[in-house]
Amino acid sequence: MDTREFELRIGQTIIDGYRADTGRAEVFELLGRQWDLLDEVWPPTYSPGGELHADLIPFAAMGAFLEMGSGAGVMSVLAALGGCRRVLALDLNPAAVANTLANARRHGVAERVEARLSDLYAAVRPGERFDGIYWNPPFFDAPAERLDGSLWHETMFDPGFAKLRRFLVDGAALLTPTGHLYLWFGEAMGKPALIEDLAAGAGLAVRELHRTTMDEIPAALATALPADVTSGERHAQWHLHLLQLGRAA
Ligand SMILES: C[S@@+](CC[C@H](N)C(=O)[O-])C[C@H]1O[C@@H](n2cnc3c(N)ncnc32)[C@H](O)[C@@H]1O
Repeated sequence: MDTREFELRIGQTIIDGYRADTGRAEVFELLGRQWDLLDEVWPPTYSPGGELHADLIPFAAMGAFLEMGSGAGVMSVLAALGGCRRVLALDLNPAAVANTLANARRHGVAERVEARLSDLYAAVRPGERFDGIYWNPPFFDAPAERLDGSLWHETMFDPGFAKLRRFLVDGAALLTPTGHLYLWFGEAMGKPALIEDLAAGAGLAVRELHRTTMDEIPAALATALPADVTSGERHAQWHLHLLQLGRAA
């Protein structure tokens, strides 16, 4: 099977598995806190990511932090709780914008967390700059013509990694002089050079802050993956990691 067809199959399996889970909770627990989860928003419990390693991001030193594709808004809230003075959350899903604001209110940081509906950086205002910009992006490449434009497909797929490329290139231009981009990513189909290549194209150098191997991937996600991903050679290639990207020297 063609690699992109294979990625489409994995992503669709994850979406279908999640949507068939009728018992999913409206409030979930993560990192010792309760969080609201609205329908049609990516559930961090399904595949907890960078937020598990938020302590590696120096929020206390940040004046402004941007979370791209904030979903339920966990990282945005953690940034505000961690001492960042101003957080801007962006998502193209209106439910994610509402969800992020709900969780900011729930955790008493609503006055420092703003959320805007935005396709990538479209809603960033002229002159706004950030000390940190983070995204847990859509992981899977897939043939564009096989996608239906739904929010779930936007959440899961990034044909040709065009969004990721723009996240890096346009984000680099929005950083303060000492700022960094942060990315939670898995080279899903074993494209080990993908991020290095995209980063080099954006004039960025990559540093790995944390690596999660396949064995540590949450059961809900691991069981959604086809067996041929979780075994053998592909297994060895699969990992998720938190990356820090800064301007190359
Ligand atoms: C994998 S989910 C991650 C959600 C959340 N940050 C988390 O870690 O739980 C990817 C998020 O990116 C958002 N997204 C996808 N394409 C986007 C775009 N072009 N502009 C803004 N957000 C986008 C999706 O709506 C979704 O909320």
